[in-house]
Amino acid sequence: MCRRFAKQHSIMTDNIVEFLAVAWDAANAAGKIIRRSWQQSKTIDYKGAIDLVTTIDRETERKIVEVIQRSFSDHAILAEEDTNLPGNGKEYRWIIDPLDGTTNFAHSYPHFCVSIALECAGEVVLGLVYDPLRGECFKAVKGEGATLNGGPIRVSNVTELDKALLATGFPYDRREKADFYLSFFKGFMTRSQGIRRNGSAALDLCYVACGRIDGFWELQLRAWDTAASALIVEEAGGKVSDLSGNKFTIWGEETLASNGAIHGEMVSVATAAAKHAASLTEP
Ligand code: IPD
Ligand code: CA
Ligand code: CA
Repeated sequence: MCRRFAKQHSIMTDNIVEFLAVAWDAANAAGKIIRRSWQQSKTIDYKGAIDLVTTIDRETERKIVEVIQRSFSDHAILAEEDTNLPGNGKEYRWIIDPLDGTTNFAHSYPHFCVSIALECAGEVVLGLVYDPLRGECFKAVKGEGATLNGGPIRVSNVTELDKALLATGFPYDRREKADFYLSFFKGFMTRSQGIRRNGSAALDLCYVACGRIDGFWELQLRAWDTAASALIVEEAGGKVSDLSGNKFTIWGEETLASNGAIHGEMVSVATAAAKHAASLTEP
């Protein structure tokens, strides 16, 4: 059934309503945990010098996995913190970031989300990103468009990079490779109207999807950061690629997303910045 979807791009007949309902139940349950804990003091572990994980990241992940497994015990599940279940079914895999924006969350800075995607035979077919503080739920189904709280969304109609508002983030090896990442920042800073560094890649991409920002780039994102939100961008009429303009994959190391109209200009800037970055002598 799933393979039929992959070919025909029509999964309304293939349990999509149930998948969406379960994805929402899981995100909503996680959102409740996040809402009641975000202003409290956090117990923090360190995955790296600046790569944090709180007990709430793990608790929300357990809750999401529990809700999904209640309905789809045979599905594979990959989630950021502790979950990599092979499942029995061969076609479906959920890809989850239980809390995207952990550094914000750890500091009670109010900008983070839950990200849940469903892959079917290797293709992401459903994405849901939920901002529990603003009560904003972004959703997309492959071939069916993207929505924010049920209403259709579209990317912006800005046509020049010069007039564009961009967003980015810096990977967790930024202390070691600061000049490398700053080459890209400088390139875009000198060509765009402004750059925001919001701290949640999944929300950044959703903001491209609904036209709040016009473009986004980041290196070293992981599949759980982008699986849901890259589909949301594409279904809202935007474009996602690597920094050279090649086909995007959630398993790759580069993400460049835009409203489509400024994509070529963004690729040119990123290509020039990459050339400069390659000449640097950092490790
Ligand atoms: C991080 C956020 C951040 C981005 C990092 C991600 P996490 O995810 O999306 O905005 O800059 O690269 O790893 O660790 O908060 O789930
Ligand atoms: Ca993340
Ligand atoms: Ca996370």
